[in-house]
Amino acid sequence: MRYLTFALGKGRLARQTLEIFEKIGITCREINDKDTRKLVFENEELKLRFFLAKGPDVPTYVEYGAADIGVVGKDTILEEARNIYEVLDLGFGKCRMCVCGPADAEELLRHHERIRVATKYPRIAKDYFYNKKRQTVEIIKLNGSIELAPIVGLSEVIVDIVETGSTLRENGLAVLEEVCPLSARMVVNQVSMKMENERIARLIVELKKNV
Ligand code: PRP
Repeated sequence: MRYLTFALGKGRLARQTLEIFEKIGITCREINDKDTRKLVFENEELKLRFFLAKGPDVPTYVEYGAADIGVVGKDTILEEARNIYEVLDLGFGKCRMCVCGPADAEELLRHHERIRVATKYPRIAKDYFYNKKRQTVEIIKLNGSIELAPIVGLSEVIVDIVETGSTLRENGLAVLEEVCPLSARMVVNQVSMKMENERIARLIVELKKNV
């Protein structure tokens, strides 16, 4: 039996994924060791291999077949737009992709003004404004702390992830429009889905009972 390889988005996502995997008897002891510098972990008995990667790189590993399976946020799947199958909503990491800004920016959105939109997700923002809303906007790519943009005058609104809403509240911003709901998803390489169909299908069935 060949090894089935999993790419997990580093951090909370990976921790929650491993918790669900443990419930269905898939364990990987070493991966939880905080001091290790190892990059790839194996469960020899089950012929499974795991590695942790930066979220946006997970769809890349899966598309190229370096990983058969990946676990990553829906935001990353939409933004990376790779040729992979999304097979399961794991139900955790729930949040929303939203257009946010100061309350008075609502007027600008309503009148389809040519506003500036700061975001870490230019593809998602572009798709939302151009294809769904038919509104021409200027997209400004940032790499983090997106909420800063409307506060310091870089943009009128932002497209960003909202979980509890506390970052927005503490900075005098609000959700103006919802783009889409998000959560952790399992993705599969298109060739692996055919070649390893039985093992992967069985895994999906087991996971479904626990999500
Ligand atoms: C994310 C997101 C928001 C915040 C939302 O940022 O970009 O800033 O979490 O969470 P809340 O609604 O619970 O306040 P993250 O912490 O990932 O860092 P980033 O700003 O570098 O993207």
